[in-house]
Amino acid sequence: MEIVAYGVLSDEEPLLRETFDKAFAGRHELRCLGLFLDRDTVPTALGHEVVISSVNDTLDAEVLRALAGGGTRMIAQRSTGHNNIDLRAAGENGLSVARVSYYSPYSVAEFAWTLALAVNRRIVRAVQRTREFDFRLDGLMGRDLRGRTAGVVGTGKIGTAFARIAHGFGMRLLAWDIAESPDCLALGVEYVPRERLFAEADLVSLHVPLLPDTHHLVDTKALALMKDDAILINSSRGGLVDTDALLEALRAGRLSGVGLDVYEEEAGVFFLDKSLEVMTDERLARLMTFSNVLVTSHQAYFTRDAVGQIAETTVTNIADYLAGRTSDNTLVRPGTA
Ligand SMILES: NC(=O)c1ccc[n+]([C@@H]2O[C@H](COP(=O)([O-])OP(=O)(O)OC[C@H]3O[C@@H](n4cnc5c(N)ncnc54)[C@H](O)[C@@H]3O)[C@@H](O)[C@H]2O)c1
Repeated sequence: MEIVAYGVLSDEEPLLRETFDKAFAGRHELRCLGLFLDRDTVPTALGHEVVISSVNDTLDAEVLRALAGGGTRMIAQRSTGHNNIDLRAAGENGLSVARVSYYSPYSVAEFAWTLALAVNRRIVRAVQRTREFDFRLDGLMGRDLRGRTAGVVGTGKIGTAFARIAHGFGMRLLAWDIAESPDCLALGVEYVPRERLFAEADLVSLHVPLLPDTHHLVDTKALALMKDDAILINSSRGGLVDTDALLEALRAGRLSGVGLDVYEEEAGVFFLDKSLEVMTDERLARLMTFSNVLVTSHQAYFTRDAVGQIAETTVTNIADYLAGRTSDNTLVRPGTA
């Protein structure tokens, strides 16, 4: 049968195709589409028993009903997060859903560090200058990290990998989480209340999931506690940071730098070419005007290793479904309505 995949990026397609072909050896064909699955595009899924979805697809109750009506029985999500899928509606429509519960946390932790180092040492501004044959160093001064304090907000898989790298730089480590990680404790991480972390850290990096509890965790109050020359990195979810509060702090000349791989209103913007359109998101446009702010388009996970693991697990999830098996990746079992 033909299996259709949505929101497939050009660098991702060869890895997904290779893994798929190896597993199904001509028994099934893969159709990769660049478009995102939503109310407008759902007719393209008609007649496909298995649909491979991405974080940017909108699988709400209406789309799920249309999928089920068109013969879809299984959704294989190519990510860990699944906030784009109404799981209850999936169950009610007799659809099974699986996700990729684990892939390289190093991809994201290393990218968070890429942003932190680039912000600290003004790399983007430096390269823009040298391309213009402007070799002055004015305004490019950074700070040694050794001996400074890293504040890790969330010490799960990614936060722990981030803390290990910070330890390698010789940084003092503070963390905040609802649960302490034995690996972080072994590294010498000190768990402290969130307010103390914000007040003492030279570098704050966010690694908690976006939940009602963590929404706008970095708000006006948290920003007021932070050092004037602190660096803030968000490679987790945009909603963790109150963008208006951040803009206010930046306008006041506070924070030495900010690295954002995620943004509150990124849906419908990130992953797309908007270069020929008028940018209607005023807050995103304003963020871009600060030379000490770096914005990337949700690319922290985007390594060959992580994307390869995501492809492998997605294909395994489909093979499990076809064989009538479930696994830890199963979010909704067949016929759980
Ligand atoms: N930018 C990207 O490309 C990208 C890719 C993957 C993941 N992420 C983000 O990174 C986040 C962390 O991923 P991970 O694999 O380390 O997750 P994880 O589940 O291993 O760790 C999350 C940590 O947050 C803590 N936590 C959970 N709920 C909390 C709460 N209510 N309050 C405080 N702490 C809480 C947990 O105790 C845990 O230690 C993900 O939730 C996702 O939002 C981003």
